[in-house]
Amino acid sequence: SESEEVMSGCGCGRNSTRSVFNSKTAELLSHHQVEIKQSFPKEGWVEEDPKEILQSVYECMERTCEKLTQLNIDISNIKAIGVTNQRETTLVWDKETGEPLYNAIVWLDLRTQSTVERLINKTPGRNKNHLKHKTGLPISTYFSAVKLRWLMDNVDEVREAVVCHRAMFGTVDSWLIWCLTGGKKGGVHCTDVTNASRTMLFNIHTMDWDPELCKYFGIPMEILPRVRSSSEIYGLMKSGALSGIPISGCLGDQSAALVGQMCFQDGQAKNTYGTGCFLLRNTGPKPVMSDHGLLTTVAYKLGRDKPACYALEGSVAIAGAVVRWLQDNLGIIGSSEELEKLAASVGTSYGCYFVPAFSGLYAPYWEPSARGIICGLTQFTNKSHLAFAALEAVCFQTREILDAMNQDSGIPLTQLQVDGGMTSNRLLMQLQADILCIPVVKPSMPETTALGAAMAAGAAEGVSVWSLSPEDLSEVTSEKFEPQINPEESEFRYARWKKAVQKSMNWET
Ligand code: G3P
Repeated sequence: SESEEVMSGCGCGRNSTRSVFNSKTAELLSHHQVEIKQSFPKEGWVEEDPKEILQSVYECMERTCEKLTQLNIDISNIKAIGVTNQRETTLVWDKETGEPLYNAIVWLDLRTQSTVERLINKTPGRNKNHLKHKTGLPISTYFSAVKLRWLMDNVDEVREAVVCHRAMFGTVDSWLIWCLTGGKKGGVHCTDVTNASRTMLFNIHTMDWDPELCKYFGIPMEILPRVRSSSEIYGLMKSGALSGIPISGCLGDQSAALVGQMCFQDGQAKNTYGTGCFLLRNTGPKPVMSDHGLLTTVAYKLGRDKPACYALEGSVAIAGAVVRWLQDNLGIIGSSEELEKLAASVGTSYGCYFVPAFSGLYAPYWEPSARGIICGLTQFTNKSHLAFAALEAVCFQTREILDAMNQDSGIPLTQLQVDGGMTSNRLLMQLQADILCIPVVKPSMPETTALGAAMAAGAAEGVSVWSLSPEDLSEVTSEKFEPQINPEESEFRYARWKKAVQKSMNWET
């Protein structure tokens, strides 16, 4: 309807997306997506251009507004904007010129491996979990603090800007909000608790930057953004068609997907298949520490005076990225759709196992020196089997996370809610159900992450057009994939996979 209030959610993961939702029904009204280029300047390095990230958001915003106008919806109905983003990716910019001082170092970048090893070697008992009691995280290349340390140690412009008090650090959310609210002319330098909890500088109990952690990594606290809740007015859009609209939602993409999938109850979980794959289980208002290699992270805090909710998270570095690798590096497929066709043409890996440990292994192993491995090859193996093994790899990695999560919580999940780009691959979804031996449920509306950000924006004090109560939203339609193979066969394949994982961790010995 023309008069409905509409909400906008802006996403920035591997792709930048802009989606607008009807605040009464959560119906997706308009959507646009732009791919952001990644560069790999050296082995293990992954970078993105901060200006391209910003430009893609502006472009998506414009195109989405044009599509709304074509639908006869006046863009003055947009009441608020929410930001959601790839987490951990680290940027430093100059607050006086507004210029980024280096490319964004992407979350799966491995350049800090030797720094991480040095830090772990210095801890009592070489314990990678030395800072876990405060951060919920192991010391790893994954998180922002080590990337920021690298920038300060290796980029002259960053070092100088820090010394001259001109440097601003932020994850992608901070960069976008600062630019969208005016940049060097009074932009708001902030982040939300979910993004802050991925830096290793944030204390998940006090819910603030931790002076001891900052000292440990040698990070001056003045360059850090102010930490805010995930749902409050941070500032107003300063230019473009949406000028004057409040930006009032901010959530790391995995938290946004949790909210968008309405996982508000203790025990509810979702798995998102993007570049990586991230399974988050809501654990309610108390942080639960994992004994099985999972992270403890802030799930969301939907308002300044609202309590924080925590989650246990299993992070897998490579999921969708394996499809890109088969396409760009091996050239055995021309598109992700081709992968499904190729794999489905054989329906088996024929005993071939593919561990895509391109960025080391994340949860539950946290082994940065692991490397990718393909084993079980015979004269008979062809690219179709390899395609099937790549899809199975995504499913086996999720199974490892699910097992760890069930062990930590003591209450096994009985079905898995999923979302993200790869869920359009029906063969993958069926394989996932087969390998987990539980049903997999996929919502028919694919923009769950953007929906979560829009919900946070709409629920903010001063906006309040969205109550965040599932009853107020229309029935979410979904598709269910039931396990179709017998559990013995599933266990047999999973046991083989685990052997391959051991080899990927010990490939040099
Ligand atoms: O922690 C990394 C995650 O937030 C990035 O997500 O979209 O690049 O898979 P994506």
